Amino acid sequence: MEKKRNSFGGSLGFVLAAAGSAVGLGNIWRFPYLAARNGGGLFIVIYVILALTFGYTLLSSEVAIGRKTKQSPLTAYSKLGKKGFGFLGVLSCIVPMLIMPYYSAIGGWLLKYFGMFVSGKGLETASDTFFSGFITGTWQPIVFHVIFFAATAFVVIRGVNKGIESLSKILMPILLIMVIGIAIFSITIRHKDADGTIRTGLQGLKILFIPDFSGLTVKQFFTTLMDAMGQLFFSISVAMGIMVAYGSYVPDNDNLDKSVRRIELFDTAVALLAGVMVIPAVYVFMGNEGLEASGPSLLFVSLPKVFSQMGTAGHVVGAIFFAMVIFAALTSSISILEAVVSSFMDAFGWSRKKAVIVESLIALVGGIVVCLGYNVFYFELKLPTGSTGQILDILDYISNSALMPIVAIATCILVGWFTGPKMVIEEVEKTGNKMTRKHMFIVVVKFLAPVLLFVLFLKSIGVLKII
Ligand code: PHE
Repeated sequence: MEKKRNSFGGSLGFVLAAAGSAVGLGNIWRFPYLAARNGGGLFIVIYVILALTFGYTLLSSEVAIGRKTKQSPLTAYSKLGKKGFGFLGVLSCIVPMLIMPYYSAIGGWLLKYFGMFVSGKGLETASDTFFSGFITGTWQPIVFHVIFFAATAFVVIRGVNKGIESLSKILMPILLIMVIGIAIFSITIRHKDADGTIRTGLQGLKILFIPDFSGLTVKQFFTTLMDAMGQLFFSISVAMGIMVAYGSYVPDNDNLDKSVRRIELFDTAVALLAGVMVIPAVYVFMGNEGLEASGPSLLFVSLPKVFSQMGTAGHVVGAIFFAMVIFAALTSSISILEAVVSSFMDAFGWSRKKAVIVESLIALVGGIVVCLGYNVFYFELKLPTGSTGQILDILDYISNSALMPIVAIATCILVGWFTGPKMVIEEVEKTGNKMTRKHMFIVVVKFLAPVLLFVLFLKSIGVLKII
C-alpha cells in the first residue's frame, strides 16, 4: 500500500517554509555587498526586474514540476516522461548533497559567534586573529558543526508538517522583526573618526540606494547584470532540488501563482532590509574600505569590528544579529536536507528516518572534512575564477558555479522546449486562477533564461574573461 505523501497544511506554511529556504546567508552576506559594489540603486533596480521575470519563471517551473509529479527532485524529472532528462534529477540531488556539509560547517561558526556575544565575550571576536584562530582550531568548529547539523536533522525527521512548516511559521516572522529592528538602528547611528570625519547611517543608506552612474561602461553594466543574475538564482534556492521537493508537498488546491509571488516578495524584502542593516553600519564605522568585504569575512571579521565600535549596544546588537542569521541559515539548511531526504525516500522507498540517518552520516563526515580543511587537510587550490580556496570553497564552486547553472539551463530547456511551457501553466492554473505573468513566462523560459544562464555559466567556470 502506498503511504500518504507528506504535505504542507496550507498556503502560509508553504510560503514561509519556501521563504525560509530562500532567505539565507546569501541575502545577508552577499546581496548588500554586491549592491554597494555595483552602483547601489542600479544593481537594486536590475535585481528587482530579474526577480520579477527570471525569478518568477524559475520558481514557478520548479514548484509546478514538484506539485505535478508529487515527487522529490531525484525522481520528478524522469516522471515528466521526456527521455534524456533523468540526469537532471540526479544533479538536483547531488547539488544539495554537496552543499549540506559546508552549509552546516558555516552554521556551526554562527553558533560559536552567537555564543560569544551572549556570554558577554562578543567584543573578543573583533580581534584580527579571532576568526582564523577559531577555524584553524581542530575541535571547536567540528563540535559546533555537529550541533548545527543535529538541529537541522531534528526538524527534518519530524516531517514536513510538524517539523519544517511549524518551525518556519515561528522563525520567519521573528526573523523579519529582527531584521527590521537592526535596520532601523543601523540608519540612526553616527560616528566620528579620530581625524574628525563624521559619518552617518543616512549617508550609508545613500550608497545603497542612490544609483551611481559615474563612469558606467557597457562592461560594468554587464558585470552588474551577471552579479544580479547569479545572486538571484542562488537566493531563491532554485537549481538545487529544493523547490521541487517543497512543491511536491503543496496541496492541489493552492494558488501557486500567488504563493510564488509571496515567496519572491519575502526574499527580496529581506535582501533589501539586509542591505539597510549592513551597509550603513559598516560604512559608519569602517568607511568605504569596509564595504569591500563580503561572505565569511564580512560576517565573521568586519561586522564584529562594527559591533565592538558600538560599545555596550554592540553586545546586544551582535547577539540579536547572530541569532537572526542562525534562523536564516537553519531554515535554509533544513531545506537542503529535505531535498536529499525526500529524494532518498521516493527513489529507494526508504522511511523518513532511514533517509535522514543515511544523509546525516554523509553530511556529518563531509562537514568534518570541511572543518579539517583549515588545519589537518589544509591546501590552497587555485579556482578557475582566479581565487584560491580550501575544501569549503571547492564544494561551493562545484555546486554553485558549475552544477547549478547546468541544472537551471536544463530545466528551462525541458520546460520551454520538451514538455512545453503549457505543462507549468496548466499546473499553476488548475485551481481556476490565472497565471499572472504567463506571456512573459513563455518568452523567458524558452529564450531569455537559457541564454543568460549560459553566459553566466561561462563566466563562472572562467571561460568568459571579459568581465
Ligand atoms: N537561498 C539561500 C540564500 O540566499 C541559500 C541556500 C543555499 C539555501 C543552498 C538553500 C540551499 O542564502
